Amino acid sequence: MNLEEIYKSKIVTAKQAAEKVKSGNRVVIGHAVGEPTAVIDAMVANCEAYENVEILHMVAMNKAEYAKPGMEKHFTHNSLFVGGNTREAVSSGRANFTPCYFSEVPSLFKGKLPVDVALIQVTQPDEHGYCSYGVSNDYTKPSADCAKLIIAEVNNQMPRTMGDSFIHVSEIDYIVEYNHPIVELNPPKIGDVEKAIGEHCASLVEDGSTLQLGIGAIPDAVLLFLKDKKNLGIHSEMISDGVVELVEAGVITGKAKTLHTGKIVVTFLMGTKRLYDFADNNPMVEMYPVDYVNDPTVIMKNSKMISINSCVQVDFMGQIASESVGLKQISGVGGQVDFIRGSNMCKDGKSIIAMASTAAHGTISKILPLLDGGSAVTTGRNDVNYVVTEYGVAQLKGENLKDRARALINIAHPDFRPSLIKEWEKRFKAKF
Ligand code: COA
Repeated sequence: MNLEEIYKSKIVTAKQAAEKVKSGNRVVIGHAVGEPTAVIDAMVANCEAYENVEILHMVAMNKAEYAKPGMEKHFTHNSLFVGGNTREAVSSGRANFTPCYFSEVPSLFKGKLPVDVALIQVTQPDEHGYCSYGVSNDYTKPSADCAKLIIAEVNNQMPRTMGDSFIHVSEIDYIVEYNHPIVELNPPKIGDVEKAIGEHCASLVEDGSTLQLGIGAIPDAVLLFLKDKKNLGIHSEMISDGVVELVEAGVITGKAKTLHTGKIVVTFLMGTKRLYDFADNNPMVEMYPVDYVNDPTVIMKNSKMISINSCVQVDFMGQIASESVGLKQISGVGGQVDFIRGSNMCKDGKSIIAMASTAAHGTISKILPLLDGGSAVTTGRNDVNYVVTEYGVAQLKGENLKDRARALINIAHPDFRPSLIKEWEKRFKAKF
């Protein structure tokens, strides 16, 4: 058979593809905006045919209907990261949460959590028969690399991304053709608080630095203040639209990068069509699986690596909680610790935790003497270095516990400083 015949021989409807999934299977769903939605919807519609299908996923951008009430008999959702669409399912006990570093997910698939079915979304094959993983390489490619069965949604609107980002059509078991725009994530609103945080973070970025930025208003605000920098580079779990602007402005060139010089290295994309068009067939953007991009020993090969991530609470010792508030799970570690360690280990690197000083409309301080009971420590006190709020920068590495707490109180919201100082004086039996 030639490539076209091979391709055509694999085409099924979404319903037929869903029928290939069997009770008791472990199914890994392609990540974030790479979710193969037609097959997922068909699987949910076919739920009566299944008992105990385990669905593994991280950031669910669509409806996550497999985790809704009434689905318990058919599906068990095992979340490796909790986002807005799965938070309620995890907190109500219908879905499970498995803590793990993002960089370790592929090794779990090869060992402890073997994959029966990988549901992926890819581009149409090129003239050599290769389909690109497009917006989501991360754990999606590794899940297909070791799955017993691969079902691929082929979407002619998926950007063709480069790097180690391809699967040959002959490796796919079933193909569902479904052409649709990639889900877009509109840029967040950047307020005064985010701008102040962005400015403080940007003050730590030297020309020639390589950046990792998370998602949301704070990373986007940082990008706003980098317009005068030179030869910045990107080695990041994900990128969003802000990066495109800085490439077009000639700020991000990657020329000073000590690993993949001249390239933007990333494992997934999440933004608007502008970002997806930028990444399409662009040799500057290289996508690799997450066990490469997020491996701290790879990250550390970049010099002047700067990681910028966020959290929900920091205690006086510098313990960072980013995943839960008390026992309430709101997120996961994602790549935070991977990048904090990688940037701490690299030459002239800096790891930054950037956050607003308060939560819940200013009623709760995020800087606290102790984390809430039950909060998971995401980044330990031995790993943390810079903490930034709208009130400034606290540099913690190498500082003793007393001085760490003092530095943190100095960047807390002024309304909370008197009570924090009282706690400091009680704990350290000294005058602040
Ligand atoms: N006390 C109580 N609730 C809090 C809180 C606190 N100290 N801090 C945040 N929250 C609540 C918010 O009110 C919000 O609730 P809502 O969704 O019901 O409105 C929710 O927790 C999320 O907080 P928010 O400030 O909106 O989050 P964010 O979009 O700025 O993201 C993290 C912050 C920490 C959740 C996010 O950065 C994350 O998931 N980090 C871990 C993973 C990571 O770092 N990955 C890095 C590579 S992408």
